[in-house]
Amino acid sequence: MSRDSFGSRFGALVAMAGSAVGLGNLWRFPYLVGENGGAAFIIVYILLSFLICLPIFISEFVVGRRSQKNAYAAFRDLSGGSAWRWVGLFTIIVPLIVLSYYSVIGGWSVDYLLKSFTFSFTGGESQSAMATMFSDMVSSTWAPLLAHTGFLLTTMLIVVVGIKDGIEKFSKVMMPLLFVIVIAIAIYSVTLPGAKAGLDYLFNPDFSKINGEAIAAALGQAFFSLSLGFGTIMTYASYVDKKENIMFQSTATAVSDLMFALIAGTAIMPAVFAFGINPQSGPGLVFETLPYVFGQMPAGGFIAILFFLALLVAALTSSISMLEVAVAYLVEEKNLSRIGACVVLFVICWVVGAVCSLSFGPLSHVEIAGGNIFDFFDDLSSNILMTLGSLLTVLFVGWRLKKTDVYDEFTNGGAISRNAKIFGVLWILIRYVCPLAIIAIFISGLL
Ligand code: PFF
Repeated sequence: MSRDSFGSRFGALVAMAGSAVGLGNLWRFPYLVGENGGAAFIIVYILLSFLICLPIFISEFVVGRRSQKNAYAAFRDLSGGSAWRWVGLFTIIVPLIVLSYYSVIGGWSVDYLLKSFTFSFTGGESQSAMATMFSDMVSSTWAPLLAHTGFLLTTMLIVVVGIKDGIEKFSKVMMPLLFVIVIAIAIYSVTLPGAKAGLDYLFNPDFSKINGEAIAAALGQAFFSLSLGFGTIMTYASYVDKKENIMFQSTATAVSDLMFALIAGTAIMPAVFAFGINPQSGPGLVFETLPYVFGQMPAGGFIAILFFLALLVAALTSSISMLEVAVAYLVEEKNLSRIGACVVLFVICWVVGAVCSLSFGPLSHVEIAGGNIFDFFDDLSSNILMTLGSLLTVLFVGWRLKKTDVYDEFTNGGAISRNAKIFGVLWILIRYVCPLAIIAIFISGLL
């Protein structure tokens, strides 16, 4: 049976951008920018995205498209059957861990979308009422479990249909919609009286805040946002046509991801400041602060629906990419049918996700490394496993693959002369700069 693949350049691009654009852009990026020096952080973020992350992205692309196989087989076959295959397996397991708790947050966005349909935030409630609404929801047993189930099931239903007809079709419709919604909210948000304070918070550079920790935060965010170190880009790249230009596809994904993050910041912060509120971190920003803001602003009920719809769509186009990594593996290596693979993975992720969900309520007394189970999975995967996955991938491409093979894949057999011209620089970045920078930044973040 021939392998499924993306049907068009645009389809491959929106699917990759869909994986990149996600919850990370909508709540993590705006908050990190504000905390770490505004525009100064954005400059560091852009530099790291293009100097470190883009070469890693291209490395994953090369591995995936060269092998046209799942991540495990890609590492195995390209290394002539060596132990590198275990790195492949590692990059399959990490996205499953992330998917499990990502689906819990995806579930919260389902819950809040439903709440916004019933105009639950627009009765002029206080800020503390919104905080209570959120903590009541996450700490209850059944509502978040049900929403997590619905989110994961939807992810599975899209993936089960396949690459061209499932993932690609969904992304083609949803990604443009997502951009339109967030741009519309951003335009609305900057026209609110008092919006300027939010723009200042985001875009005024404060270089005194740039230290080792801020740089590590920028790199971690760039990894997470570009879905690096997870086997995802590798797996999607394995479905990309051999004629496509890797440099173009990679840069276009990185640019769309960055643009989306900046637009999301512009949608959120001016509105938050217009109502005189200090932005909170993480889920608190999206699920406590914003509902209060929606309750205060004119037409807020409608904006709330658009916002939570955007959040859900952004989460879904990312979650399908995480699931596909392991589905490809089980179908190609373990001979499972696509449905069989999806069902097995659904059960695993549902159970792990359910434990994460309950860690806000009935299991909140269980502490691992000073936090609840959810935080443990989040910290472990986004701070350590992801960095390790990216490091091992660039080491694989830079030190294990043959330079001529990487050149061949990157330039489509020498046909793309522009790529041939920049290959020398790219090779130095992949071989030396990226591994050293990842290690240095990782260590400085620990200090
Ligand atoms: N890039 C996604 C975000 O910013 O929310 C998260 C993500 C998607 C991480 C896919 C890993 C992955 F494989």
